[in-house]
Amino acid sequence: MEDVSSFSHSRKKEESSKVKMVLPFDPSTLTFQNVQYYVDTPQEMRKEGYVQRKLQILSDITGAAKPGVLTALMGPSGAGKTTLLDVLAGRKTIGYIEGEIRANGYPKVQETFARISGYCEQNDIHSPQITVKESLIFSAWMRLPACIDSKTKTKFVQEVIETIELDGMEDALVGTPGLSGLSTEQRKRLTIAVELVANPSIIFMDEPTTSLDARAAAIVMRAVKNVVDTGRTIVCTIHQPSIDIFEAFDELIYLKNGGSLIYCGPLGQNSSKVIEYFENIPGVTKIKDNCNPATWMLEATSSSVESELGIDFSEIYKSSALYENNKELVRQLSNPPSRFQRCVFSNPICPKLLGTDQKLPMETAFILLEKSFIQLDAFRVHYCNFVDSRHPLLGPRK
Ligand SMILES: Nc1ncnc2c1ncn2[C@@H]1O[C@H](COP(=O)(O)OP(=O)(O)OP(=O)(O)O)[C@@H](O)[C@H]1O
Ligand SMILES: [Mg+2]
Repeated sequence: MEDVSSFSHSRKKEESSKVKMVLPFDPSTLTFQNVQYYVDTPQEMRKEGYVQRKLQILSDITGAAKPGVLTALMGPSGAGKTTLLDVLAGRKTIGYIEGEIRANGYPKVQETFARISGYCEQNDIHSPQITVKESLIFSAWMRLPACIDSKTKTKFVQEVIETIELDGMEDALVGTPGLSGLSTEQRKRLTIAVELVANPSIIFMDEPTTSLDARAAAIVMRAVKNVVDTGRTIVCTIHQPSIDIFEAFDELIYLKNGGSLIYCGPLGQNSSKVIEYFENIPGVTKIKDNCNPATWMLEATSSSVESELGIDFSEIYKSSALYENNKELVRQLSNPPSRFQRCVFSNPICPKLLGTDQKLPMETAFILLEKSFIQLDAFRVHYCNFVDSRHPLLGPRK
């Protein structure tokens, strides 16, 4: 079994000096205040008698994600974890978002935010016929600014390979899930690496350990910790974690069914802060010795417990000192520090090029790569040229 406790060891070692990579980035703080998300009520629900025209999926979400801090986004199935991750990352193409989302104190502008953020989907699609290193080089060359020279990009790709612990398998073919090539766990790490080579300062991850056994989940989690140790901001949805994985996180955003917050704050040593918060609510059962705090929390705050005790955990959170502290923290972090410049990029995207020109400008490809609903088949021809004839750095396949 992988030594998951090495999370905390590596953390301590690096706390004093964050791991430096060849490409610098500005650490980013993400703040969100009173975020609401609605969709048009689905026809089926209206037929069943739900009269509201809009269905609220997220309600009054306020919090912050900070550099070098690993934030877990948890809650029961259907609580709205992926929705919140998508809203924060700016990936929602339908629905209505209200509230304020800021990056480094500035209101989030999606065109620029996309350049400093990455998103690891729960089930990412990788090209099966290329190697791990080729996947990373493709992503790096597509998404890093053209002004960065090839030598630096190559060095950065190598550093990412080491950070995600993919060394030793960089020449392996990605293959087809369940049939050939990389295992599920290795694919999850490749997904993280493909995002990391774009040098984002904020990375969103949707359930990176789901469908993995304990050992595989521990390996992925160690890679995630290595990334946060570089000073990046990570928000990560997580489902039924083991104690070790749960306690590898620094902070917790916890949603209940219906998409409202019931906890937002630090986990504490051995989850002490979370345990203390929920145990102090009258009627909540105390945690038993050696019980997984994540499992206990999920059970102790379920809808059935709410109706049994006649309480609403989100109302309790809203009247807590923790909520007041969070509002104050978000207020402080919402002022842009003077040393940060608002990001301004030249070369606006030219959508006319889509589908007409094989040589997509880097910016266009970058945006396309961000869109999960666009299949990458359109790039295949261009990519083959890129790898086989235009890229001397790759060399022959081993
Ligand atoms: N476009 C939509 N129309 C109607 N309902 C939606 C829409 N998008 C999300 N929902 C509902 O919002 C709720 C939250 O969905 P979401 O996928 O964010 O939950 P989750 O916490 O990520 O769940 P899981 O643990 O299963 O991944 C669910 O009840 C889902 O059915
Ligand atoms: Mg989800």
